[in-house]
Amino acid sequence: MALREAPARFPVAIIGPGALGSFFASRLSKVVATALIGRETQPLPQADWVVILVKAYDTAAAVRTARRMRPTGVVSLQNGLVQRVPQGVTTAAAYRVGKRVVPVASGSTLLPSGFETLARHLREAGFDARVVADIRAARLRKLLANVCLNPVTALFRVPNGALLQPPYVMFAEALAAEAAAALVAEGLKITAGEAVRRVMEVAKTTARNRSSMLQDVLAGRRTENDYLTGALLRLARRHQVAVPTHRAFYRLIRVIEQRLESDGQRRERNVR
Ligand SMILES: NC(=O)c1ccc[n+]([C@@H]2O[C@H](COP(=O)([O-])OP(=O)(O)OC[C@H]3O[C@@H](n4cnc5c(N)ncnc54)[C@H](OP(=O)(O)O)[C@@H]3O)[C@@H](O)[C@H]2O)c1
Repeated sequence: MALREAPARFPVAIIGPGALGSFFASRLSKVVATALIGRETQPLPQADWVVILVKAYDTAAAVRTARRMRPTGVVSLQNGLVQRVPQGVTTAAAYRVGKRVVPVASGSTLLPSGFETLARHLREAGFDARVVADIRAARLRKLLANVCLNPVTALFRVPNGALLQPPYVMFAEALAAEAAAALVAEGLKITAGEAVRRVMEVAKTTARNRSSMLQDVLAGRRTENDYLTGALLRLARRHQVAVPTHRAFYRLIRVIEQRLESDGQRRERNVR
């Protein structure tokens, strides 16, 4: 879908017309011609700057699509650690209610070097966006918040702010301290105490929000567990750092997902 006129080559394209992709595209299209690309989009236009905003488990297909658009640069703003393309970080937030997209916050968006033009387009569209030299540290800090907030809120079905209070605070603190050890081994400069404070700060500023993993569980969708906690487990294994609380939460979320999958299959059989 082209959100403005349809030039031969779009300055910006977004792959993934979901909550965040639609939010970015609707604002960008007011200042620059922006293509919003879904699974079924054809024919594909060419584009200068392509932003990947599919769920992490759909990244491979989205990157193949991006390459076919003959881009100058492709960047992911997904959560988790994806390996296939340069990755930025965003705290912009939106969610879907059926087909409607509800923006939550325009947040701040950090991009790797080389994406200055895209950052300018985003700023013109009203987003707080900039290029940072150490994007890897920003991604690891985002991973820290994600692996502490998402599994606890999804398992207990509580909003982010619940992590500030007993009984959930003890899980958040244990997860933050364990994650810090793995992230330090990966090169991030952070102490266990700073990691706990950072997670609590995010829980406070997003207190009323439902995490993406909680939204996925409530909607019966697959979660990004493999790319959030799973990514941390892989880092920890590589550096031989013990993260038993993360391992437990990873397995618990996996059990929930398996139950959602078998419920879905049962519903499908009953419909046939
Ligand atoms: N939502 C937020 O507030 C937020 C905030 C920060 C980061 N993020 C991250 O941003 C990413 C996207 O999140 P989201 O909440 O926007 O997810 P979402 O609402 O599920 O949207 C993903 C969209 O991508 C589409 N898609 C899947 N595979 C595709 C492909 N190969 N080509 C084109 N489109 C494809 C999906 O189509 P179908 O519906 O057909 O599957 C869906 O429309 C995730 O990694 C998430 O963690 C989200």
